[in-house]
Amino acid sequence: MNITFIGTGYVGLVSGVMMSYFGHNVTCLDTNHTKISQLKSGRLPIYEPGLENYLNSKIKFIDQYQDIPTATDAVFITVGTPSLPSGEADLSYIFGAIDNLIECLKTDSNILTVIKSTVPPGTCKKIEDYLAKKGSRLKVAANPEFLREGKAIEDFLHPDRIVIGIDNPQDLRVLENIYQPLTKKNIPLVVTDSVTAEMIKYASNSFLAAKVAFINEMADLCEVVNADIEKLAYGIGLDHRIGKDFLKAGPGFGGSCFPKDILALSTLTKKYKIDSLVLDSVIQANKIRTDNMVDKISRAVGGNLKGKNITILGLAFKAGTDDVRSSPAIKIIELLQAQKAHITTYDPIAKTDLAEVKIAASANEACDNADALVVVTEWPEFKNLDFEKIYKMMKNKIIIDLRNMLDSHTLTAMGFKYYGVGIPSC
Ligand code: UDX
Ligand code: UDX
Repeated sequence: MNITFIGTGYVGLVSGVMMSYFGHNVTCLDTNHTKISQLKSGRLPIYEPGLENYLNSKIKFIDQYQDIPTATDAVFITVGTPSLPSGEADLSYIFGAIDNLIECLKTDSNILTVIKSTVPPGTCKKIEDYLAKKGSRLKVAANPEFLREGKAIEDFLHPDRIVIGIDNPQDLRVLENIYQPLTKKNIPLVVTDSVTAEMIKYASNSFLAAKVAFINEMADLCEVVNADIEKLAYGIGLDHRIGKDFLKAGPGFGGSCFPKDILALSTLTKKYKIDSLVLDSVIQANKIRTDNMVDKISRAVGGNLKGKNITILGLAFKAGTDDVRSSPAIKIIELLQAQKAHITTYDPIAKTDLAEVKIAASANEACDNADALVVVTEWPEFKNLDFEKIYKMMKNKIIIDLRNMLDSHTLTAMGFKYYGVGIPSC
């Protein structure tokens, strides 16, 4: 099939490259000319492990709408839908793309416009009404994505399900053909109306966020009753009704999806004047999580952060990505700086332009003369650091592991004071 993606971000680029891998003729459009020129020269503008192995010269990269091939069966829209100050999703990029499509395609074009970006329930219907008013025959479907950054290829090739929201059944054929490489391997195809499909995405992310917020709260309780959150997570996760995933205690959820999606859903409940105690408590619990982590760091260094040298290992909101959007690490750094701590940081991939933050070239260098070392992002390389050498370099030998990823017993035996999240102090 002939497919065009509008927006080559974390979702659009991965989806476009992988659809090309399935054998479809793919065109990827982005209005960011720098991104497109990078892609045309075979370079990736984002970090997504393994994506470079699938990037191929068959894919057309364009930055002008009029270059969309006329023989297009479906246009997927994967532009950003960030939060507005009100908490609602900003749909201006979506409607901007729709306007450009109306302008550049032939007026009688009735190709399928597939909304893959995360949009509030009812958006596809709004787009259908908008198109009707403009006299356009473009058709609309919802097809939300469930790609995790850092695992997007695995999630694309082995999805738990494909969700399609379509209000006119005859439009289903195009998407059935596009997803045939997956449905032929018995990946479930969930076909529903567009509003329900849009809601499935929000509800999915909100539930997963709630799971993370729950385990983080259990971790705080474990600390005061001297229980072990890692064993607790294992013990509850074996219950098939709970499931083992998304029960890793940490510094709170971040990224460009969970925070904005659960906020958009909560904002929607306010608009319809219905209660959202669960959603609001998850948002609130996650909001105070970084404050609680900074309190933990402060207690570990004696109760006063002023003038202390704090090393932060990790900037990305999680391992496997260069994305720092709503990253707990960034929030923790800002809170530490507000208490006059001096920050040195190292991340193998992600970058930051935060003021007064020293960026080290290695984890070892970042630990020089540190009062405390804080692990915030669970990059695997942090497990294998030379802690004997780091011990000698640090001024005070304190490690605060916000991902419970280091070996607390070995580090304690070396002479470090080790603090985890929800695990008994050694
Ligand atoms: C985005 C949405 O944020 C998310 O809600 C949805 O699920 C998938 O698409 P992501 O890929 O992370 O997620 O967004 P981002 O990395 O910001 O990429 C969006 C791309 O669209 C950017 O490359 C941007 O340049 C491009 N874009 C944006 C356009 O090409 N045209 C526009 O009008 C606006
Ligand atoms: C999420 C959804 O998983 C994906 O299906 C959707 O398409 C986009 O949003 P992503 O934002 O890439 O994907 O990150 P994810 O792996 O879900 O983690 C989200 C946040 O929760 C991260 O900050 C992560 O560190 C945190 N998390 C996740 C935990 O703290 N503990 C866990 O056990 C899992």
